[in-house]
Amino acid sequence: MHIHIEGSLEPELMFEIAGRNGIALKYASVEEARRAYDFADLQSFLDVYYEATRVLLHERDFYDLTWAYLNKASAQGVRHAEIFFDPQAHTDRGVAFETVVTGIRRALIDGERRLGISSHLILCFLRHLSAEEAMETLRQALPYRDWIVGVGLDSTEVGHPPTEFEAVFEEAGRHGFRKVAHAGEEGPPEYIWQALDDLKAVRIDHGVRCMEDPRLVERLREEQVPLTVCPLSNVKLRVFRSIDQHPLKRMLEAGLCATVNSDDPAYFGGYVADNLQAIKDGLGFTREDFRKVAENSFRASFIDEAEKERLLNELASYF
Ligand code: ADE
Ligand code: ZN
Repeated sequence: MHIHIEGSLEPELMFEIAGRNGIALKYASVEEARRAYDFADLQSFLDVYYEATRVLLHERDFYDLTWAYLNKASAQGVRHAEIFFDPQAHTDRGVAFETVVTGIRRALIDGERRLGISSHLILCFLRHLSAEEAMETLRQALPYRDWIVGVGLDSTEVGHPPTEFEAVFEEAGRHGFRKVAHAGEEGPPEYIWQALDDLKAVRIDHGVRCMEDPRLVERLREEQVPLTVCPLSNVKLRVFRSIDQHPLKRMLEAGLCATVNSDDPAYFGGYVADNLQAIKDGLGFTREDFRKVAENSFRASFIDEAEKERLLNELASYF
């Protein structure tokens, strides 16, 4: 539920697409790109991430990006993916919204047919851009309403509080979009309160800084608000020093509906199963902990209720 499709662009594919599109990269090789993936914080990552998205120009590029992700996810046992995309990272460069969404959509259909992965697409507004630009992006999305399950909020968090986007989230709600938002990754617990109360977000992406606010933990527990936690991301972006310092285990012990996600797997050292392995090694996750996060994930998803029950039953019988 927390995978940015642009963050699944592996350097090999970045070079391949750059080559066919005649785009010069600032890295001499795949190895040099990988060595540059050493980040001080969220912004230093975002600079590299937006730079890489420049190679994506044509519908085929968005198809190939998404198809490569789905193959990776499938190989790691993913059955259903709710995928973010950042249209403004492309429309700001002159790529049409239609090009982006059509390429991704075609791959998602093939993913369902050929790999058996179901999926939903979530449009994220870039919070370092204005609320007016977000509203314009929502307008561009309306012809594709049936392809997009919800809206989210991502990019530079600190200095860009959720409340600034209240009107666009309200408008999205009028069109039936589900609402999620990144909050409490680098930003304070206050941003999580705003995402819940002002944006009416039904899931919080990251949310790890909730642990600094006992009243907020109580609210999140009481309402079982899902948190899409991304352990390897938090270490790579230095939210926590190492996996053994990560609060995920404490979050589960506090009764929170925490899930495990990969965020930007091409940059952070792996896909969802790599995150699961990391919390097994670093936090001593048990079989019961894994059962719980898997159950939380299906409960938190936007899968329709009948299919959700079927998957939860399958999960229960597996365990
Ligand atoms: N865009 C891509 N990955 C992100 C993250 N982890 N936080 C905020 N915006 C993002
Ligand atoms: Zn994210």
